[in-house]
Amino acid sequence: MTLPGTGMRTFKSPLEKTQATVGRLCAAVCVLFVTGTARTLADPRCVACHPGEVAAYAQSSMAHSLSESAAVPAGSFQHDFSGTKFSILSDASGITQQYSRSGHSGSYPVAYVIGSGKHAYGFLVRISGHLFQSPLSYYSRAGIWDVAPGYEKTSDPDFTRPVTLECLLCHSGNPRILPDTLNTYAPAPFLEESIGCDRCHGAVESHLKNPVRATIVNPSRLAGAARDSVCEQCHLNGEIRIPNPGKTFADFRPGQRIEETYTIYVSHDSGNGQVKVVSHSEQLALSACARNSEGKLWCGTCHNPHDANPQTAAFFRLRCLTCHGASLEASHAAPGRDCVACHMPRLPARDGGHTAFTDHRIRRRPSEPAPPGPAGLVAWREPDPALRDRNLALALVAWAYLNQSQAEMTRGYQMLTSVEGQFPDDVDVLTSLGSVQLHIHQPTEALRRFQKVLVLRPNCASCQVNAASALIQLGNDSEAIRHLTRALELDPLFQPAVVTLSSLYRRQGQLAQAAEVSLRYQRAMSNSDHSQ
Ligand code: HEC
Ligand code: HEC
Ligand code: HEC
Ligand code: HEC
Ligand code: HEC
Ligand code: HEC
Ligand code: HEC
Repeated sequence: MTLPGTGMRTFKSPLEKTQATVGRLCAAVCVLFVTGTARTLADPRCVACHPGEVAAYAQSSMAHSLSESAAVPAGSFQHDFSGTKFSILSDASGITQQYSRSGHSGSYPVAYVIGSGKHAYGFLVRISGHLFQSPLSYYSRAGIWDVAPGYEKTSDPDFTRPVTLECLLCHSGNPRILPDTLNTYAPAPFLEESIGCDRCHGAVESHLKNPVRATIVNPSRLAGAARDSVCEQCHLNGEIRIPNPGKTFADFRPGQRIEETYTIYVSHDSGNGQVKVVSHSEQLALSACARNSEGKLWCGTCHNPHDANPQTAAFFRLRCLTCHGASLEASHAAPGRDCVACHMPRLPARDGGHTAFTDHRIRRRPSEPAPPGPAGLVAWREPDPALRDRNLALALVAWAYLNQSQAEMTRGYQMLTSVEGQFPDDVDVLTSLGSVQLHIHQPTEALRRFQKVLVLRPNCASCQVNAASALIQLGNDSEAIRHLTRALELDPLFQPAVVTLSSLYRRQGQLAQAAEVSLRYQRAMSNSDHSQ
């Protein structure tokens, strides 16, 4: 999601513009009109009573976060780093993406498009009910096709990266992942394609039965952390997110604090003046405005998804003046009309590369060095005291893997060992402990944890692969093969199982079996659900 940028939302079609205008003004007459085109609206059940909110939200980019297709041009380009040639076909029937590299090639019809296209589009393909990421993005501002963020330095940019629940929770209405899987979704993978009303307002059923204020969440009426959590679920990625025992990321509901479901860990490196994309929350928290206004300032101070879009300099100026009004004229040398131009300039984004976005640190002089954020890995807000050490330990280990940091790994491991007794049936604790033990070559200890996990989650393909990895270190190849075979029965497209099993066969000199495993996988991966 590393795609940065600012910019104004334009209307997709004249119809949408009409809807927006009509929605604001209308009463009974145009309800018919708006409901007539309800497919583009977030929740058709709300429109009769809240036409203005529905129509205004329909203009926001969040209401177009995911769709089945997009008007992108055809194109082709060469990715020099990997020597891959990509070409893209695009017409009224849809988008198809093709790659070829040293004799290999593939052709994938796009199943879903991520993004409103304000800055860029990302693409998903569907293979046997699994969703995978396309290595391509269309950068709408520059008008170019290129590899997606994260694929720049990849030697084999293929259509093999799983699209996880976390990714789709931020970009779609409600993804329907199948239990115990990494990226297998129900035949209709989304309850709602784009981000719907319930993601900020919570469950709507009781409100529909009894439509009064008390039966639905209004984020702006929530207190502190619960209020901020509504936007943080998507706008604060952090470095690592750790679900509480027994929870998944999908369990969060507006009205709660995020820590009731998972803890977000953040870290700030020196940053060389550049900023990360999904970190508006972190940036705002660093501002003097947020630090000195006792929790008054939040995203909703300047962004209301039900206001006219795009918002102007004058609109933002009024937001500033709600706090800075009286004293500013006297103290400010040049209180120009466009506060944002000087105090919230656009910056080149660190992990996107193609576009710029708005600095939310609201600094006196943005050219001066930014205030330092916390060093190391820290909880954005701490969870329940009983979960603090567990969640931090899991985060440290995950972070250590990402950053190849031995110090964090050791610290995380020591903490995990000391909390294990309190969480004896905790799949995440057992898996994390086992993975460190594999790393430090203690396969017997690792296997004991992985086997315990398999008792708790026998149908989890990655858990089978973990057990196999410990067995391989112990030299028990035949048992390892049994677990890997089981993993592939559970999920034939689970790449780590394919890679491990075929290399195990190769090591044993069973070249035919090795080839068979790879071939079966390649065949399965080339059969997109959308091919004719
Ligand atoms: C924690 C939430 C989160 C996760 C996880 C996440 N994204 Fe994003 N993504 C965002 C937000 C928020 C934006 C809007 C960027 C901004 O802050 O302006 C975005 C922007 C994008 C955009 C550009 C959209 C546009 O209209 O310009 C694409 C494409 C994208 N993400 C793809 C992905 C993919 C693919 C994944 C998973 C593999 C992913 N993202 C994971 C939150 C997330
Ligand atoms: C039958 C009419 C009706 C329908 C349908 C309806 N609402 Fe409401 N809604 C109301 C009324 C009445 C209020 C209270 C307004 C007031 O007191 O000023 C309200 C208030 C709200 C509020 C404000 C709560 C607050 O505390 O400020 C939200 C948010 C809301 N509705 C969202 C929705 C959503 C989302 C849907 C669709 C799932 C929906 N409504 C469907 C009638 C309706
Ligand atoms: C379910 C995830 C999700 C939630 C919850 C969410 N956002 Fe977003 N938001 C996104 C994504 C994804 C984008 C980028 C959409 C795109 O361009 O494709 C985005 C874009 C935006 C933008 C860019 C402006 C625009 O509309 O073009 C603003 C501002 C914004 N969100 C504010 C908020 C605020 C304020 C809240 C909390 C009240 C919030 N968001 C809650 C996911 C979310
Ligand atoms: C990205 C988050 C987000 C989404 C999605 C969202 N809303 Fe809201 N909504 C808000 C916020 C924030 C407020 C409070 C605005 C304020 O008063 O500052 C709000 C307020 C409202 C209100 C109360 C308005 C008032 O003045 O009392 C209604 C009604 C409402 N929303 C309906 C909807 C409906 C219907 C949808 C789906 C079409 C929807 N919202 C989608 C964030 C969201
Ligand atoms: C919720 C209230 C609130 C809002 C809204 C707000 N600020 Fe602030 N701001 C403060 C407070 C409180 C301070 C710290 C005390 C002071 O310097 O006045 C501050 C400080 C600042 C500073 C000094 C920063 C520093 O490092 O010393 C700047 C510049 C600033 N604000 C600009 C803005 C701009 C521009 C906007 C609108 C985009 C804005 N503020 C919106 C409350 C707010
Ligand atoms: C003091 C005002 C202010 C506050 C508070 C604020 N924003 Fe913004 N935000 C802006 C301005 C100004 C822009 C640039 C808008 C434009 O150019 O159209 C912006 C742009 C954005 C964008 C579009 C991408 C980008 O970076 O330009 C997103 C997403 C966003 N804000 C999210 C948030 C979230 C999430 C919060 C709460 C953590 C938040 N904002 C709080 C003023 C604010
Ligand atoms: C032309 C650029 C520019 C514009 C436009 C601008 N500012 Fe500033 N602002 C500055 C500079 C530069 C400083 C630092 C002054 C100093 O350190 O002596 C500053 C300082 C501030 C401060 C710190 C308090 C103080 O007076 O020293 C606040 C608050 C502030 N600006 C708010 C705003 C608001 C609100 C607006 C819009 C009404 C605005 N600024 C418009 C450049 C600008």
